[in-house]
Amino acid sequence: MTSAAPASGFSTYRRLLGYTRQYWRVLVLAIVGMVLAALTEVAFAALMKPLLDGSFVHRDPATIHAMPLLLLAVFLARMIGEFVSDYGMAWVGRSVIHDLKRDVFEQVLHLPVRFFDRTPGGEILTRLNYQSEQVSEAASRALTTLIRDSVTVVGLLAWMLYLSWQLALFLLVLTPVLVGLVAGISRAFRRYARQIQASMGGVSHVAEEVISAHRVVKLYNGEPFERARFAEINRRNFKDFLKMQAVNSVASPLTQLILAIGIAGIIWFATSGDRMQQISVGTFVSFLTALSLMLAPMKRLIGVNAVLQRGIAAGESLFGLMDEPREPDEAAVLPALRVSGAIRLVDAGLRYAPDAPWVLSGVNLTISAGQTVALVGRSGAGKSTLMAALPRFVPLSTGAILLDDWPIDALSLTDLRRQFAYVSQDTVLFHASVAANIGYSDGAAFDRARVVAAADAAFAREFIEALPQGFETLVGENGVLLSGGQRQRLAIARALYRDAPILMLDEATSALDTESERHIQAALENLSRGRTTLVIAHRLSTIERADCIVVLDHGRVVEMGSHAQLLAAEGAYAALHRLQFKTVAALDA
Ligand SMILES: Nc1ncnc2c1ncn2[C@@H]1O[C@H](COP(=O)(O)OP(=O)(O)OP(=O)(O)O)[C@@H](O)[C@H]1O
Ligand SMILES: [Mg+2]
Repeated sequence: MTSAAPASGFSTYRRLLGYTRQYWRVLVLAIVGMVLAALTEVAFAALMKPLLDGSFVHRDPATIHAMPLLLLAVFLARMIGEFVSDYGMAWVGRSVIHDLKRDVFEQVLHLPVRFFDRTPGGEILTRLNYQSEQVSEAASRALTTLIRDSVTVVGLLAWMLYLSWQLALFLLVLTPVLVGLVAGISRAFRRYARQIQASMGGVSHVAEEVISAHRVVKLYNGEPFERARFAEINRRNFKDFLKMQAVNSVASPLTQLILAIGIAGIIWFATSGDRMQQISVGTFVSFLTALSLMLAPMKRLIGVNAVLQRGIAAGESLFGLMDEPREPDEAAVLPALRVSGAIRLVDAGLRYAPDAPWVLSGVNLTISAGQTVALVGRSGAGKSTLMAALPRFVPLSTGAILLDDWPIDALSLTDLRRQFAYVSQDTVLFHASVAANIGYSDGAAFDRARVVAAADAAFAREFIEALPQGFETLVGENGVLLSGGQRQRLAIARALYRDAPILMLDEATSALDTESERHIQAALENLSRGRTTLVIAHRLSTIERADCIVVLDHGRVVEMGSHAQLLAAEGAYAALHRLQFKTVAALDA
């Protein structure tokens, strides 16, 4: 592991560099700007010598005239250099962030359902949002430091050597001490910064949970617990911040003190013995200027490894996500295929992980086109899983599923999924208008008339038209301004709009009152004519008219037949039915 880390760090770096390739012209321009800006620092220090010796000591008229102009020229060059390098690096950096986000998002669109099952959504979001920024920011900061600051330091050192090699040599002995001290301070500073970041994460995590689960917190009187939990994290955050501030407040004067010690040392060295006579005022001030200009870039050069490491860590996690295997989709694309809706499961078996228990096993099922088939069984029997296997949300572990004699693996995912409309157990609405939610399968190009028709069929039109902006009303991220039953009807309308040969309804009417359920049932019966319909319902009254009822238990088909047949068979279904009928009778009494 440890031996692999540098190699993977390097490959991460190379991969990131690949993203800049396309922008190399701007990058080169920015680098030229950096070098120019660095050289102006050296020029500024160098100007000190003629300024003092020529203008003030010798009162040389030519120097006196040239000085202001030269100074202006240096600062003008510096301004140009800084602008070109800053703007150029920002340009390249933002372009890389843009491209990284595009690629991560594309990857997210292709990740298998299983990945989302085991990865918290927040984590994916973090990678998309922050890590792509961080990686590019770290890289551009590191590059700027490596080029601009090292040119500055080397240039200033060369100038100092030229001025007085004795002074420069003395400085070379002193420098490691100064730099070591400064590095120690910034290391301590970084350590606290990291701690604070961690406890900041804690603060928002607790707050986020309380905000999204506010009803649970209120009902279960979780306030004292949450208050204590938050207080603890908040207090730690407060203390860490103060510690960081202490380090911060000490760091800057301390750095200055160290610098002063260095300068004092140099003054002492320059004025002791007969060196006084050899070194002019200009040389001395120019030397000191160069020294003070060198300190900040040196500090950054020492810290550049930390910046790089941070960027590489973010890059590894980002590229880790990009390298996650996508949903397998090798099959050929068949143009405009529409199956008739016959479904056959042959010895289908499924488990979610190689060492997990079988959720479906030995399922053999033949559904003719246009049939309505109901899946019933206890909670956890595998009903939703069976539905999820059809559009390849989860892959079968054994056996096969055929649509019109096409094995589902032989179809491309797009072709396969075009055959289904699906209402899941938990309703998902997008933060968009009601109409856009219903017409989702056509994206932005949905057909208004068909949206209204679908809403009509799903018994949703009445309440939609009563909304403030009707079909244009925005529904919240979770459709918060709608009731559970209203959301379900929107989901049904979305499925009806799709007009696919196979309709799958997983507890699609569970949140509806008996009255609306009956209405929708009638509408579904109309719509399911000519298309295969798979229904999961716990309320058995809603599926009595299905062509075939399949009873699942522990992933196996235990009974199959029409309502009448199964009642007559006196098996599991009859028992379930009796139980529900009794409950209903008891409720009515
Ligand atoms: N994404 C998943 N990863 C791992 N195991 C899962 C996953 N989804 C379901 N399971 C497991 O598979 C089994 C069957 O679940 P499934 O959702 O198919 O049941 P169900 O018949 O639809 O139940 P319900 O009537 O409660 O909706 C359960 O034991 C469940 O723990
Ligand atoms: Mg289910």
